[in-house]
Amino acid sequence: MATHRIAVIPGDGIGKEVIAEGAKVLRALERLEPHLRLRLTRFAWGCDWYRKHGEVMPADCLEVLARFDAIYLGAIGDPANVPDTIAQHALLNLRKGLDQYACVRPALLLPGVRSPLAGQAPGAIDFIVVRENTEGEYAGTGGRLYRGTPKEVAVQTSIFTRAGTERIIRYAFALAGRRKRRRLTSVTKSNVQQYSMVFWDEVFWAVAREFPDVQAESMLADAACMNFVRAPERFDVVVASNQFGDILTDIAAAIVGSLGLAPSANINPSRALPSMFEPVHGSAPDIAGQGIANPLAAILAAEMMLDFLGERRGARRIRRAAMAVLAEGKALPADLGGQARTAEVGAAVLHHLREAGRA
Ligand code: NAD
Ligand code: IPM
Ligand code: MN
Repeated sequence: MATHRIAVIPGDGIGKEVIAEGAKVLRALERLEPHLRLRLTRFAWGCDWYRKHGEVMPADCLEVLARFDAIYLGAIGDPANVPDTIAQHALLNLRKGLDQYACVRPALLLPGVRSPLAGQAPGAIDFIVVRENTEGEYAGTGGRLYRGTPKEVAVQTSIFTRAGTERIIRYAFALAGRRKRRRLTSVTKSNVQQYSMVFWDEVFWAVAREFPDVQAESMLADAACMNFVRAPERFDVVVASNQFGDILTDIAAAIVGSLGLAPSANINPSRALPSMFEPVHGSAPDIAGQGIANPLAAILAAEMMLDFLGERRGARRIRRAAMAVLAEGKALPADLGGQARTAEVGAAVLHHLREAGRA
């Protein structure tokens, strides 16, 4: 019998609201899958913690989390009260410190969900963005001089290492090789960023030679943004740097219906340290506390977590239950055009989970 130790960090704003529903789904699944044991340990880290303790997460958070098999995260951020750079430094510290170098963000148009793009049928948009998650534009190197004076200088340096670039590109090729269409698009801005992005392109084409079965292409980032909107069906797997991946995945979420539906996995493929699963979205201060956030991105992140932990059947059960809620269309949250509250969407997922479990 497998016991998976899961660190749960609900975080801030709607992070708390959506993780509450995701945790209920995990608990319900445990009752349906007799062999499945999930030991959930909750950590109240985030911006409330910062106000009390002066830090977003304790200094030893990486050592604490290293003892878990996976991390289930809501969102971090309370920009009205805590500087966002402080809050997000804590989040990036987890992704980097646990060497979760592959950020995997699927974009699939599910039945029952309407894309804002005209004429897109369910399944027509079906791609995965693989985002570099430990370096690049998010390296955090730079500084400021002469603050507040006319001669002020700000420098923010991207870092692209050969090891870091090769491993993310190889991960994306391997993923593309396991998919039906076996197509990989690398997104850069190498017409302008003549050092980092030309280097990325060189690594991309060198690694491409190891994967002759995968159709490889390179696309400029501005064109990729346009093509996500104009012809999203042409993409299969997309690989991009940390910041380009961030931007592309908000577009990807929007074209498959909503940010409230988009899950994300921060993977350490070595499994030496835990991987982390979270929605693509943030703490959404504009709707936090109202009980109207869509919990499905968080619930689908739980599906990705179980799949990564080798619990494929449990993962499939969650996915089917979420899909049943969408297809039925009775308990849709506001971002999908419905009126259901967060807890009602969660309850509908639980209902379908249990119904399918009985069948
Ligand atoms: P956001 O993703 O929180 O929200 C963007 C918009 O999408 C808002 O209008 C919000 O209401 C809506 N939205 C997001 N998730 C939704 C859901 N589940 N259901 C319905 N609507 C949803 O982005 P933001 O407003 O730019 O950022 C808010 C805070 O979150 C900032 O502090 C930011 O740094 C942080 N953030 C954290 C993470 C994370 O922890 N992984 C990710 C993104 C943003
Ligand atoms: C995301 C978020 C984060 C990122 C922020 C909050 C640090 O936007 O997970 O997409 O840029 O990676
Ligand atoms: Mn983002």
